[in-house]
Amino acid sequence: MIKSVIAGVGGYLPEKVLTNFDLEKMVETSDAWIQERTGIRSRHIADETQTTSSLAIKASESALENAGISGADIDLIILATTTPDDTTPATAMRVQAALGATNAFAFDVQAACSGFMYALSVADKFIKTGTVKTALVIGAETLSRIVDWNDRNTCVLFGDGAGAVIVKAKETTEDSNSEILDIILHSDGRLRDLLTTTGGVSRTQNAGFVHMEGREVFRHAVTNLSNVAQEIIEKTGVQLSDIDYLVPHQANIRIIEGTAKKLDISSDKVIITLPEQGNTSAASIPLALYEGVKSQKLKKGHLILLDAMGAGFTWASALIRL
Ligand code: UT7
Repeated sequence: MIKSVIAGVGGYLPEKVLTNFDLEKMVETSDAWIQERTGIRSRHIADETQTTSSLAIKASESALENAGISGADIDLIILATTTPDDTTPATAMRVQAALGATNAFAFDVQAACSGFMYALSVADKFIKTGTVKTALVIGAETLSRIVDWNDRNTCVLFGDGAGAVIVKAKETTEDSNSEILDIILHSDGRLRDLLTTTGGVSRTQNAGFVHMEGREVFRHAVTNLSNVAQEIIEKTGVQLSDIDYLVPHQANIRIIEGTAKKLDISSDKVIITLPEQGNTSAASIPLALYEGVKSQKLKKGHLILLDAMGAGFTWASALIRL
């Protein structure tokens, strides 16, 4: 059976930083409230020249470099985003053109904060069925463009950024134990109104702004995240104690700590980027992977549990031997 492996990781954050103190001047909030209730100190914001695709291109270039391959080597590009450059075609098309990935086919996936996990799962299946050998999987967002900067309930939470991974079919000659062991996806469309936008192309002919019933989302988040993590542990037969790192979606430090506690994973085994990045939706997990690899916490051979939850609701887990 063909196995798939993560062969490269990349990321990009726009230079512009918006701190909690900056937000104090925009809405009735405080650095103390934001830090205590969310764990966020600052977030990166795209400047007026940047778009989701421009962040995605930079993250992809860094992933390609990390994997030691070029755009022409890619067979498939999947870009997960909630904030596409255009209504059509897919933002992935801009990335394909910029990377010179003329041998690839490319498309977008929309599963909100779980988007990267959905995209990774699709790429994994294309590889395991032998359809493609090398895939570029991206999570990229400019959430600042759909945040209502007058709404303190949401504007303090989100940030912009992009992360990317190269997924390859494992060479039969490769003797490492690296592989994507499994990915589990869930969704429940009955809960879509708890985290949504006030508009959409077909409904209102505009993108609308983020609207969230924060307390309700919070309540579901810890339960869904810990349940889907338990599910993949049981399905793959690994022990929780074998997990080297948890790489969770970065929405709220209390959600991350609550999930880790339920799973009995100690805080030193959790990759956290939230304080400086905020919630970057589909970009948060690949950016956390990138940070983990860059800081040399995540190393070849490590067993890593990815865990995401977002609008839809969608939620997902993945188990990866790096
Ligand atoms: O990425 C997808 C997943 N997203 C999430 O998982 C987010 C889940 N939700 C959360 O992280 C939290 O619910 C929030 C951070 C959004 C809110 O924290 P909370 O502890 O649930 O606060 P709350 O919504 O219960 O609000 C408590 C109080 C309210 O005031 P009253 O009604 O008690 O007078 C809010 O109006 O805090 C107020 N508040 C604020 N105060 C200062 C809400 N936002 C702010 C703010 N600054 N930015």
